[in-house]
Amino acid sequence: MGARNLNELSKKNTPGNASGESEGFRYVDSAITSRRAIRSFTSDLVPRGTIEEILSVSSRAPSGSNMQPWRVYVVSGKIKLRLTKSIVESQTGGTKPCSQPWKYYPDVFPPEYNERRRKIGWDLYDLAGIKKGDREGSKRFRNRNFDFFGAPVGFIFTIAEELEVGSWLDYGCFLQNIMIAARGRGLHTCPQAIFSEVPDPIRKTLSIPKGEIIVCGMSLGYIDEAANVNKLETERSTIDEFTKFI
Ligand SMILES: Cc1cc2nc3c(=O)[nH]c(=O)nc-3n(C[C@H](O)[C@H](O)[C@H](O)COP(=O)(O)O)c2cc1C
Repeated sequence: MGARNLNELSKKNTPGNASGESEGFRYVDSAITSRRAIRSFTSDLVPRGTIEEILSVSSRAPSGSNMQPWRVYVVSGKIKLRLTKSIVESQTGGTKPCSQPWKYYPDVFPPEYNERRRKIGWDLYDLAGIKKGDREGSKRFRNRNFDFFGAPVGFIFTIAEELEVGSWLDYGCFLQNIMIAARGRGLHTCPQAIFSEVPDPIRKTLSIPKGEIIVCGMSLGYIDEAANVNKLETERSTIDEFTKFI
């Protein structure tokens, strides 16, 4: 599906619902609610055409002044292996620690958020069989991120460094679109901010030019249904906990 076709498609679908059917919301809702962060994939390949389709559809994300701040590096096969190796080596060797140009989390977590963060951390470690204090185990698990959890496709997302927080907001819309478009095609994903913590080997391996900041990575592939880590069930607050109808 080329960009031009997609532009035509977006005109046809305005206004109306997603599928043109009265029950169309079910497809959309199911793509949204069936998305989970998947941390073990099968080695089944994803055709390049499918990746292109997902990116093309996702580029319909809204962005302030239609700036479309996203830049995407897609890796698979040998280059993906090389990227993983370079990151893991940068973590184990004597190389100097990377300089992360932006911060995902605050230094001190407000209690409400800390509680949620700790819960998902321990739930995940439990499923992965990592006990409290098992530093080697947690390091190994952290490094699985850099292998894109075995997925055949990895994305590295960057943004121009001049852009402001508004464009990062746009970026979130784009990333979510990718994850939903992937679900529509039977694929799963894991968004991975951890890649922003190791910019140096990534920049080097993928020849990312100066002036681009690494936002995050993402794994894309087919779920390994048998993997324990994929049994993680995450909770959400009910709407009355985060909403006021006024
Ligand atoms: C921007 C972003 C970055 C994330 N980075 C990571 C990561 O580096 N590694 C990881 O395993 N999960 C990562 N996650 C996944 C979250 O842990 C996950 O979305 C959250 O626990 C809720 O679980 P669910 O996505 O399965 O509903 C990230 C999620 C987002 C949105």
